[in-house]
Amino acid sequence: FDTVDVIRAKRDGRELTSEEIAWVIDAYTHDHVADYQMAALNMAILLNGMTRREIADWTRAMIESGERMNFDQLSRPTADKHSTGGVGDKITLPLAPLVAVFDVAVPQLSGRGLGHTGGTLDKLEAIAGWRAALTNDEMMHQLDTVGAVICQAGSGLAPADRKLYALRDVTGTVEAIPLIASSIMSKKIAEGTSALVLDVKVGSGAFMKNVDQARELARTMVDLGTDAGVTTTALLTDMSTPLGLTVGNALEVRESIEVLAGGGPADVVDLTVALAAEMLAGAGKTTAEDDIRAALNDGRAMDAWRAMIAAQDGDNDAALPVAAEQHVITAPRSGYLTTLDAYAVGVASWRLGAGRARKDDQVQAGAGIELHAKPGDKVTAGAPLMTLHTDTPERFDRAIEIAEEGVVISDDAPTNSPSLIIDRLA
Ligand code: URA
Repeated sequence: FDTVDVIRAKRDGRELTSEEIAWVIDAYTHDHVADYQMAALNMAILLNGMTRREIADWTRAMIESGERMNFDQLSRPTADKHSTGGVGDKITLPLAPLVAVFDVAVPQLSGRGLGHTGGTLDKLEAIAGWRAALTNDEMMHQLDTVGAVICQAGSGLAPADRKLYALRDVTGTVEAIPLIASSIMSKKIAEGTSALVLDVKVGSGAFMKNVDQARELARTMVDLGTDAGVTTTALLTDMSTPLGLTVGNALEVRESIEVLAGGGPADVVDLTVALAAEMLAGAGKTTAEDDIRAALNDGRAMDAWRAMIAAQDGDNDAALPVAAEQHVITAPRSGYLTTLDAYAVGVASWRLGAGRARKDDQVQAGAGIELHAKPGDKVTAGAPLMTLHTDTPERFDRAIEIAEEGVVISDDAPTNSPSLIIDRLA
């Protein structure tokens, strides 16, 4: 095949053949197709789209660029969750041990944050000693003994996606539904889970700003998973405001531990329980939500969490890091908090040091934002709205400005707040 012919075909709106797709992904993985050529092809895909068959072929080619894991030797079925990314989205932390309580193994391969959304590995690294990198053997052993593992994806899984994602990130081609769906699903299918629930976020803090786009992304991913033999469902969930009351690494670990102790904010608990129910049903162990909640309230999920953290050398009893400096933002007037914008809070937290601007930057474990009010709450002038945390106080000015832009206080209570769970697709 000729690379330029493939680019021209997609540019002119022709459907690519299975052979063309297999060839171009393989050639790109092995550096026979240049970055500038792949960038042009990605832009043509972003503008002209792909058919369901092209997306399936593209996904398969990315899976075949690397190794596939296999959990068939485990005595338990496996289930995994993927979130398309949000602000304050710490759900993986309580969810993985909670599902393990019900004898379903959770192989949760996670990533680091880039930009305004946090990464699960960055959060867990706030725990003294905790180790993100495990060998495949260590992972398998932990799934057998503890039943849950959250670790870094090995470099052998879908290497084509690793290269492609880095290229898309710098060429304005991240936001293409065929490319997002194939990127996420190639990694999940290669990982070898038997059941998968997708948490597709909608709103200012998410990739997908409106429900129609999010539904199309969810539909595409559910179809890819189902066609590949993975029992896949999706929830569309609200990301117009942060999840829970904390954003930032150690702050989110603290809130997750509150949930595992039977407390924590209602939205975090409700979403954790809803996703656990999907995972258990997908793995063939349908469980009532009340029975799932019971495992948070009676200490079983906490026991599984402590075992999971200890297995990766984390010190369950060490104090979590606290940032050196705090600043409280107060309500400028009395009224109802009608907007607390997820994107503004996410960017402010990132600026405080919770996230990184470049791939190799260090994150601050203690940095981030605690929220003291949520949309719909009545607030009084001068009452605290949020507390900003950082080790580097020169970051306060810009972060305060950004966070304040995300706040709207009105005389009337909000009437059209989105529900936490907007839709379900199977
Ligand atoms: N997450 C991924 O893994 N890939 C994308 O393309 C977007 C989000």
